[in-house]
Amino acid sequence: MDGFLVKGFSGKRILEGVLPVMGAKNFALKAQAASLLFGGHVLLENMPLIDDVCKMNQMLEDLGVKIERVKKRNFELNIPAVIKTDLDKNTAKSLRSSIVLVGPILAREGKVSFPHPGGCVIGQRPIDVFLEAFKKMGARVRLNKDLYTLEADKLKGAEIFFRMPSVTATETLMMSAVLAKGKTVLYNCACEPEIMFLAEFLNSAGARINGAGTHTIVVQGGGLLKGDSICRVPPDRIEAGSFAIIAALCAKKLKITNCVPAHMRAVLQALQNVGVKINFGKNYLLIKESPGLKPSDIKTREYPGFPTDLQALFSVLLTQASGRSFVFETVFEGRLNYLFDLERMGADVVVCDPHRAIINGPTKLRGRKMESPDLRAGLAFIIAGMVAEGESFVDNANNIDRGYENIEGRLNAVGAEIKRITNNE
Ligand code: EPU
Repeated sequence: MDGFLVKGFSGKRILEGVLPVMGAKNFALKAQAASLLFGGHVLLENMPLIDDVCKMNQMLEDLGVKIERVKKRNFELNIPAVIKTDLDKNTAKSLRSSIVLVGPILAREGKVSFPHPGGCVIGQRPIDVFLEAFKKMGARVRLNKDLYTLEADKLKGAEIFFRMPSVTATETLMMSAVLAKGKTVLYNCACEPEIMFLAEFLNSAGARINGAGTHTIVVQGGGLLKGDSICRVPPDRIEAGSFAIIAALCAKKLKITNCVPAHMRAVLQALQNVGVKINFGKNYLLIKESPGLKPSDIKTREYPGFPTDLQALFSVLLTQASGRSFVFETVFEGRLNYLFDLERMGADVVVCDPHRAIINGPTKLRGRKMESPDLRAGLAFIIAGMVAEGESFVDNANNIDRGYENIEGRLNAVGAEIKRITNNE
């Protein structure tokens, strides 16, 4: 497995230049799954070249989809008339988004079998919300050993109340409803911008979805969507936020381009609350050297609140603020464990319970060897390594490669010194 050797700059702010943001991981994966709702070809443009996208392509190919890379970031997917109904067990187990394939396969073929989806280890990540909703739409659910099988001759429209606003459950059921018979109303939906983009993509090919981006989504079911459709993946707001935090800690002056600040209001406000100097336009952020960071409290929430995916990175920033900050992770119960490693680097952290922590700053961090526990905490360790004195080694680079394309090359282009060490070096 690869790891990253990260040079620490002892708190000096040295990054400078322009950092463009890639296409959104958490939209790209759903657009790949959505291709199963189409007859014929679908062209996906501006895809991020990350491991999760490769795995999703692998699963689609295994189901019978032909995929051709027509340009560096564009993939053409050719959907056969009949697709297989078993998800590849090993790949599905390693990717949370594998659950998103379940809806379109069930709706299209009347059957699907799959293992419990895996992905980043950040909490229990159950799928009860999905299963309850599929049952409401008429599916029979069986669990045999570790394999779920869902069957329904034809999914029926239904009224579904999600007991919590889950992003992937909202997307999966919205997609399933596109091919169901009759009208589906989804209540207590998640409102992430990626859900709205997904509905726009499907509607552009003939789906009838209303209300995506709000808590109530209404879908009129129908037949397969028209092929030869094109979908351009929008910028990744979590990557843009990650870069903004890196800039706040390590940059003299950094421009982050290809992003949509209008989708990042909670993050921009949180950065401004700690004293980060930000200018922004319609599609860029400009972050200037911001010494004298102030403490602040963050509480993660569903969109439009502060995203759980930036909690670990923001906590690294808080280790450098003067005073006491409070971090409240409300979405996942396993997303504060990385703090013990920050503590070993010299951070003054009190983990109160699985959801809450106190960070006292500023503290000098010392480079050390760490293992990336998940995608976002992995990047948080790289940033902590850049702020620290001395070198750090962040093992399990594959966790970071899942969601950030060529992270070392892109950060090195603006002045970082990160070296990928492959297993056999
Ligand atoms: N939940 C249940 N039962 C369910 C589904 C969800 O209890 O059946 C709970 C979860 O355990 C969690 C809460 O609901 O406590 C919200 O989780 P959600 O389902 O919204 O998360 P997700 O859809 O699995 C997506 C992103 C995550 C991101 C979360 C929250 C994808 C592929 N993943 O996950 O992204 O953290 O929404 O915004 O879209 C990441 O990119 O690093 C990442 C983990």
